[in-house]
Amino acid sequence: MNEKPKTSTVLLAAAVCLLPLLAACAVIKQDRPLLSVREYERMIVGRLDAEYVGTDNCVSKCHQHEKIADDFKHSVHGEQIKPETGLPLVNCESCHGPGSLAIENISDDVAQNDEKKVKCDTSKFLDIKNLPTPAQSLICLKCHSAASTPSLALWNASIHALNDVGCFDCHKLHKGPQQKVSREQMAEMCYGCHPEIRAENSLFSHHPLREKKMACVDCHEPHGSTQSHLLKGNTVKELCTRCHMDKQGPFAFEHGDVTENCANCHTPHGSINNNLLNAAMPFLCLQCHAGHVVGSDLAVNGTSVNATPLFNNRCTDCHSQIHGSDVPTGTEKKGVFLK
Ligand code: HEC
Ligand code: HEC
Ligand code: HEC
Ligand code: HEC
Ligand code: HEC
Ligand code: HEC
Ligand code: HEC
Ligand code: HEC
Ligand code: HEC
Repeated sequence: MNEKPKTSTVLLAAAVCLLPLLAACAVIKQDRPLLSVREYERMIVGRLDAEYVGTDNCVSKCHQHEKIADDFKHSVHGEQIKPETGLPLVNCESCHGPGSLAIENISDDVAQNDEKKVKCDTSKFLDIKNLPTPAQSLICLKCHSAASTPSLALWNASIHALNDVGCFDCHKLHKGPQQKVSREQMAEMCYGCHPEIRAENSLFSHHPLREKKMACVDCHEPHGSTQSHLLKGNTVKELCTRCHMDKQGPFAFEHGDVTENCANCHTPHGSINNNLLNAAMPFLCLQCHAGHVVGSDLAVNGTSVNATPLFNNRCTDCHSQIHGSDVPTGTEKKGVFLK
């Protein structure tokens, strides 16, 4: 008989296929012994002599976990129920490993346990906090394969995974029912490891991250992306023009190809210059252009009279359509971005 493989088997198989990559990546930058994938897997199987007892058994016997259990019940994880069995698809033991040994010595009477100070023996669970990071992430990846969570497709090659950042460095699962990182708390969470971005965002000109009108994930994909710096989209221009559509063009008169990368002139998180500019005017423009003079009373016998060198000016006072223009201005029908 040709039996159809169970979905869980397929998911597991998919996860296992990703493992060699994960293990290989993890050791590229780190000077630590190369472990085979099987070793990481073994670390997360848990005690082979322990049995699964179910969330109710765990929780009813250890009432100090009431808040955790209550939050969990209201979380996306806790709400997952296997329709055919009515049992939860995700329960405490999905992540912590089988629990029978941990509660072996505890009686059903909570008061009695308290009195005798008998506690759940947490050393019998997976040592979840002390596993190597790739093994920690495997606990999650066994369910969150690229097939079930597309945003994780590039996880193994991401700069976070390669630098030993794991799933629950960012996802604080027991802080409340929220399993996803909320937009409210995201910046603070990221700043924990990227303090320089907080400093940049506190500058005068900035994207409204600190006002919480935007979040890091509007521009970044923390799980891995095909662009450098974990950026969303295929190019910087594509990313920026999702919101700044008026800068997208095409224009009859393009600014060379410089607007293909908005970062030629702008910095994303914050700047001491107006309009998130990399450098103050006119220095920004003078990186690529020579300054020039304009006006009627300019050249007398070959020397400038009464003409202020224009690099004292904001170039965009005149070249106001700096991102491109459809109107030819100046001599020779050029589009010098005057209007
Ligand atoms: C989706 C995976 C997952 C599930 C499901 C899960 N936990 Fe956890 N738990 C973790 C992780 C990861 C940690 C350690 C990191 C942390 O504290 O965020 C942890 C830590 C803990 C801790 C230690 C907290 C501390 O501060 O030391 C307790 C207690 C706990 N879990 C109980 C439970 C109980 C009870 C359930 C079921 C109601 C449960 N967990 C379900 C992933 C999970
Ligand atoms: C036993 C399977 C299983 C394990 C193990 C598991 N998850 Fe999940 N997780 C799910 C399912 C099922 C969902 C709900 C469907 C979905 O969003 O993909 C989910 C949803 C989520 C969500 C989305 C919540 C939301 O509000 O949309 C996050 C975040 C998450 N899991 C993180 C984790 C992390 C981090 C770990 C490892 C500590 C983990 N999960 C381990 C099965 C699992
Ligand atoms: C650097 C921080 C960071 C790490 C590491 C991280 N996540 Fe996330 N994750 C986030 C953020 C932020 C979001 C919220 C995305 C949003 O709101 O669009 C998220 C969202 C999710 C979601 C919700 C579904 C989705 O695609 O938006 C799941 C599931 C998830 N993460 C699982 C994982 C798993 C599993 C790992 C480890 C393999 C992991 N995450 C590692 C930051 C992280
Ligand atoms: C408006 C889009 C945008 C937002 C919002 C954003 N970033 Fe960035 N980020 C970028 C771009 C673009 C780069 C690449 C910069 C470059 O090429 O110099 C970058 C680069 C980075 C880098 C690499 C170091 C560096 O400065 O070049 C880090 C770390 C980073 N961002 C973290 C964050 C964090 C944390 C948040 C949220 C608090 C955030 N970013 C919000 C667009 C954004
Ligand atoms: C546990 C620490 C940690 C957390 C939390 C964290 N990161 Fe990172 N992040 C790192 C490390 C380590 C690197 C790689 C080394 C580096 O470039 O700083 C990195 C790299 C990056 C880069 C690429 C930097 C580059 O130069 O290309 C970006 C972008 C980034 N993180 C954004 C985020 C965002 C957005 C969040 C929040 C959703 C976040 N990080 C949360 C540790 C963290
Ligand atoms: C998710 C939407 C979004 C994305 C993506 C985005 N921006 Fe913005 N941008 C905004 C918002 C919102 C503001 C603030 C507008 C306001 O305050 O009126 C802003 C403001 C600006 C400003 C003016 C800042 C000032 O001081 O007045 C510049 C310049 C800018 N963005 C450039 C960029 C560049 C370059 C990128 C790509 C790296 C980018 N933006 C990506 C939403 C976005
Ligand atoms: C050649 C340099 C240069 C490039 C490249 C560039 N900008 Fe600008 N941008 C400027 C200057 C200069 C200003 C300020 C204009 C002013 O002072 O009137 C500005 C202002 C802005 C503003 C705020 C004012 C407004 O007009 O809304 C946004 C938003 C913006 N740019 C987005 C972008 C985006 C998106 C890209 C990439 C497609 C980009 N810029 C590429 C030079 C540039
Ligand atoms: C990264 C380099 C770079 C920066 C910075 C830059 N430009 Fe340009 N600019 C170019 C290139 C390349 C061209 C196209 C040259 C050509 O076609 O001969 C150009 C063309 C122009 C033109 C002529 C357009 C035409 O139709 O002939 C003007 C005017 C101009 N830039 C003004 C500015 C101003 C003002 C700034 C500062 C806000 C600036 N540029 C910043 C590279 C730059
Ligand atoms: C007082 C208004 C004014 C200011 C300020 C100004 N320009 Fe111009 N610029 C013009 C005019 C008008 C033209 C068209 C000249 C023509 O084609 O006859 C022009 C032309 C140009 C050209 C195209 C030259 C060519 O030969 O194709 C460039 C490049 C340029 N300006 C760069 C700059 C830079 C860089 C600054 C700042 C340092 C600047 N401009 C400041 C008015 C100005």
